[in-house]
Amino acid sequence: MYKIAVIAGDGTGPEVMREGLKVLKVVSEKAGFKYETIEYDLGGDRYLKTKELVPDPVLKELSKVDAIYLGAIGHPDVKPGILEQGILLKLRFHFEQYINLRPVKLYPGVWTPIKDKGPEDIDFVVVRENTEGLYKGMGEFQKKGTKDEVALQISHNTRKGVERCVRFAFEYAKKRNKRKKLTLVGKTNVLTYAWDLWQRTFNDVAKEYKDVKTDYAHVDATCMWMVKNPEWFDVIVTDNMFGDIITDLGAIIQGGMGIAAGGNINPKGISMFEPIGGSAPKYTGKNVINPLAAICAGGMMLESLGEDKAAAMIEKSVMKVTGEKIKSLSAGKMGYSTTEVGDLVVESL
Ligand code: IPM
Ligand code: MN
Repeated sequence: MYKIAVIAGDGTGPEVMREGLKVLKVVSEKAGFKYETIEYDLGGDRYLKTKELVPDPVLKELSKVDAIYLGAIGHPDVKPGILEQGILLKLRFHFEQYINLRPVKLYPGVWTPIKDKGPEDIDFVVVRENTEGLYKGMGEFQKKGTKDEVALQISHNTRKGVERCVRFAFEYAKKRNKRKKLTLVGKTNVLTYAWDLWQRTFNDVAKEYKDVKTDYAHVDATCMWMVKNPEWFDVIVTDNMFGDIITDLGAIIQGGMGIAAGGNINPKGISMFEPIGGSAPKYTGKNVINPLAAICAGGMMLESLGEDKAAAMIEKSVMKVTGEKIKSLSAGKMGYSTTEVGDLVVESL
């Protein structure tokens, strides 16, 4: 019996999560596993009412679940940064979800802005470090408010933090068993402290994975290759900031935020799965937003729980829906409502 915490969150979060949970229910019956959900009303509305972000008792309860399934965080009436840092980053850091796993896979029938590339070309995974780097929040102001002001923002990289991430990426490339190629994406030519550590760690760990081919690309060049030759990539490993940036590029080449899902993973702890897109306030309550990213995040969650068969069933059903049913992944242009897209996935299940 899995215990799954559900944080539907803000904006369209609850709408897409409703479909994700609908699919979860049906797939659990088909694949034969049991689960219970516990809902938490974290998000902008709660914050505006009570000033609470993730209260300690909630954090305590969350530490007892098997996984967290998250909709979206972000509210137009809350100053940018408060909810992101106070909820999303807080949970990632608290539960040491040191991997942010973001598959970039073009499903059949999905439009990509990249001309002449299809599903056989766009299929790779980004392993983003998720608890260090610039996200550590280290830095300071000097002489704030004066003409001589200086702002420092420090990228904090530890050998242990880098190594566990790189090791996960090698393992993943091996287990994925596609092209068995791992590309380190960094900036060794300019950021000579951080990327020296990353490169040395990468080279050291590589010795233990002789069957995985290794490669290196600068992050700027990677943005170019992801568009020009996405088929070159199998698994990418990179730091928190670069990973954040290139996975938005990744999301758009796989068809956009309507399909892009990710997992915040602690391989030995509590992981959290989410559609990468935001809370899309302008579509809230209209039943037009695409729930496929949330459904795919649910699939990733099941895979991490060891329910590989159920995860594969979800992916197959989503591929059937993109390939044979919906016209576009964009909100309002799918040819179906949010609820109907959830129903289509259930039907093909
Ligand atoms: C993401 C988001 C977050 C990040 C924000 C909302 C803090 O952009 O999940 O990629 O920067 O990690
Ligand atoms: Mn991002």
